[in-house]
Formats: sequence, structure tokens, C-alpha cells
Amino acid sequence: MAKRPPRFSGGSGLNLKRTVTMSEDGNQTQVVYWPRVKEILDGIMARWTERWERQPLPGIHTYYWETSQELKDSVLSGLRTIEPGLPARETNLVKALARAVGTSGKMPLRGPFLSTEEVDEVVAWIDGGMPDGP
Ligand code: HEM
Repeated sequence: MAKRPPRFSGGSGLNLKRTVTMSEDGNQTQVVYWPRVKEILDGIMARWTERWERQPLPGIHTYYWETSQELKDSVLSGLRTIEPGLPARETNLVKALARAVGTSGKMPLRGPFLSTEEVDEVVAWIDGGMPDGP
């Protein structure tokens, strides 16, 4: 099994947070639930804060994802993070984390950034209908 990148959220380590991978007819279907997405986003911001030794400046945009609803409702710099019905890779959230969005750079700005696998998990969650849990 591939080695997972370290986790930085200092979470409880509950198995609930695990990503479930199923195989159907030889295809890999990744089922990702909200606690894992929150862990990924909290983790990358923890790494950002550690790297730059400061909290992100308030006012540029807010980082609200205590609940999946908060993330779904958030609008960052005038851009809605997740547009209902839009494929995950076309949402501003995934564009921001994977490449860049609008005139802003890849997020979190100046890095460190998510791994490709972590971006794929966020994509799987959005395209899977953003389930909170099984
Ligand atoms: C729709 C998606 C997003 C947009 C439009 C956006 C836009 C921006 C803009 C305009 C800035 C300020 C750029 C500057 O000062 O030159 C910024 C900074 C930043 N963004 Fe985003 N962003 C998005 C998503 C995210 C996400 C998902 C994260 C975290 C996982 C994130 C983390 C940060 C951080 C850490 C900074 C730097 C704040 C600082 O220097 O204090 N952004 N973003």
C-alpha cells in the first residue's frame, strides 16, 4: 500500500476519518466523506501556519469549513468555492488547490500545497455528492 503523507491536524485519529476505497468491476471507486476533507483542509492550513510562522492575514478571505455546509456556502474573493452541479475539477475550490484560480495563485498562497492524492480525495468527495458520512 502506498505510504500516506503525514497528517498535521492533530486529530483524534478516529477511524471515521479514513478514506474508503472500493473496487467494482476492476474500477477503483473512491468514497470520501466530509471528515476526511476537513482533515485535509485543516492539515494543509496547519502546515502553512507552521511554514510561515504566522496565522493567515484576516480580511483577504475567510477560511470557514467547520461544517461541510460552511464550505459549500463560502465565497472567497467573490468566487463561490463549490458551484452545485459543476464537476469538481471545474470548481473554484479544486482549481485553487490544484493550480490557481482567477488572478490568485495556487492555494494556500506560497504553499506548502496539497499532494495530488489529497486533491483527488477532495475531487472524489465533491463528485460523489459531498456526503457527510456513510
Ligand atoms: C475560490 C478559492 C480561492 C480564492 C479565489 C482565493 C483567493 C485568495 C487571494 C486573492 C489571496 C490574497 C493574495 C495576495 O495577497 O496576493 C489569497 C491568499 C491566501 N489564501 Fe486563498 N483563495 C482561495 C482558496 C483558498 C483555500 C481553499 C485555501 C486554504 C486551503 C487558501 C489559503 C490562502 C492563504 C493561506 C493565503 C495567504 C494569506 C496570508 O498571506 O496571510 N485559499 N487567496
